[in-house]
Amino acid sequence: MAAPSQELVIVLDFGGQYSHLIARRIRESKVFCEMLPYNIPLDELTALSPRGIILSGGPASVYQPGAPVCDPQLYDLGIPILGICYGMQLMSVQLGGVVVSAEYREYGRTTLEILEPDILLQNMGSSQVCWMSHGDRVEKPPPGCKILAQTAFSKVAAMAHQEKKLYAVQFHPEVKHTPRGQEILQNFLYDICGCTGLWTMRSFIDNTCAEISAQVGQGKVICALSGGVDSTVTALLLHRAVSYQCTSIFVNHGLLRKGEAKQVLETYGKQFHLNLVYVEAKERFLSRLSGITDPEQKRKIIGEEFICVFEEEAAKLGKVDFLAQGTLYPDVIESGTATAVTIKSHHNVGGLPEKMNLQLIEPLRWLFKDEVRVLGEELGLPEEIVWRQPFPGPGLAVRILGEATAEKIALLQEADAIVNKEIQRAGLKREVWQSFAVLPDVRSVGVMGDERTYFHTVAIRVVQSLDGMTADWVRLPYPVLERISNRIVNEVAGVNRVVYDITSKPPATIEWE
Ligand code: XMP
Repeated sequence: MAAPSQELVIVLDFGGQYSHLIARRIRESKVFCEMLPYNIPLDELTALSPRGIILSGGPASVYQPGAPVCDPQLYDLGIPILGICYGMQLMSVQLGGVVVSAEYREYGRTTLEILEPDILLQNMGSSQVCWMSHGDRVEKPPPGCKILAQTAFSKVAAMAHQEKKLYAVQFHPEVKHTPRGQEILQNFLYDICGCTGLWTMRSFIDNTCAEISAQVGQGKVICALSGGVDSTVTALLLHRAVSYQCTSIFVNHGLLRKGEAKQVLETYGKQFHLNLVYVEAKERFLSRLSGITDPEQKRKIIGEEFICVFEEEAAKLGKVDFLAQGTLYPDVIESGTATAVTIKSHHNVGGLPEKMNLQLIEPLRWLFKDEVRVLGEELGLPEEIVWRQPFPGPGLAVRILGEATAEKIALLQEADAIVNKEIQRAGLKREVWQSFAVLPDVRSVGVMGDERTYFHTVAIRVVQSLDGMTADWVRLPYPVLERISNRIVNEVAGVNRVVYDITSKPPATIEWE
């Protein structure tokens, strides 16, 4: 599928910690943006007809052996370019300027003195606050480039080659600590690249649906619906684009949260009239999990069984050509860029496309999670689904240590529902990344009334995170913890103790298994 916009700006990623943020800011300016590896061949790049190119920052030093470089012919294409930090230093060196290592890093808030605004720094007055984070600096700009701004430590803090439409800044306009950075980026996007800022979620929906229907033709599509926001939005887009040619399959493996299956059925079937196949597979999964205590084995069994059920249901539909799934842009970036450190498989339904000879449709592959949420709202999804927390594919099985039995699942569902009710009641629902209950394989002695008990312990896990890669435990107010604890021991039979998990990730993980 092609990039969903006529107005495309490309960020060439040199591995900077803020590269994703540049892409975000451009999209917030209603210009569609893609991030590509710095060494993408020139013909592939020009085939995309970008309106502008941004060279990101990066950790390398331009003179160090093996430092990442882009094709220098880039500067002669007539496409406007903005270099940021490392991108500026690289542009300088490649065009004949001089870069030197500073004695010490210029880091943090700095005053930018504007010498000549040109277009890039127009309407910025004579000085601005900007955010710097660099070791090297440009000592002498390349021939034909004029200095637009300086700071106390960087005599070339911004430069321009007007004729070639090449611009560069040493500071980071993409971070919030550069208060007017977004306007500087917009000066580049609108007044230098000539973008009009027409990219909105509405236009994304229209373009994506048109592309899906062209791709699918008369073919048949299946979509694995988990009830989470990504797969839901994917299913809704497919439904809009090709209607009943798409069948969504929702497998209830019995390891869902309390009331989740019912809610999915009501929302998708009744409210959105999706072509939905509901598969009640609880018994199947439970019997395969019987006696299994090893976490990895549990995951493997659930994954395999899921594929079996899914394949069986798909076979009932006759010949299927496509599998739609809710892969997001960060997954695409992670597995696609040369600078990425972690590579992970982003096949949500691992193994299926190859096995069943299916072509993939991934309509969300251009979007970040919060953009998917905006899209969900635009498509009319209820708030509970738009803001649903991430939930692992193997469900409650990875929150029950040891064997997952029907009795333990029911107990955990009750405790989990209380945790989330109380988090919601405290107004913290949108503040936390995930909040849930865990059932460790622990029983302890307690006393209830006059009786000694020997019941389960429930652990509470509430974490804050940006992407699930790292996380910190949330300092919940004591009254909230108190209510959760009281309600669980009073309302969930078989529990006499509640503990709070106060470990960050790393060293722990978010899930317990
Ligand atoms: P961990 O436990 O690795 O989890 O810190 C990081 C994030 O990933 C979710 N998670 C999963 N999601 N299938 C999924 O779709 C899985 O098998 C799985 N395991 C963990 C977890 O809930 C957290 O958001």
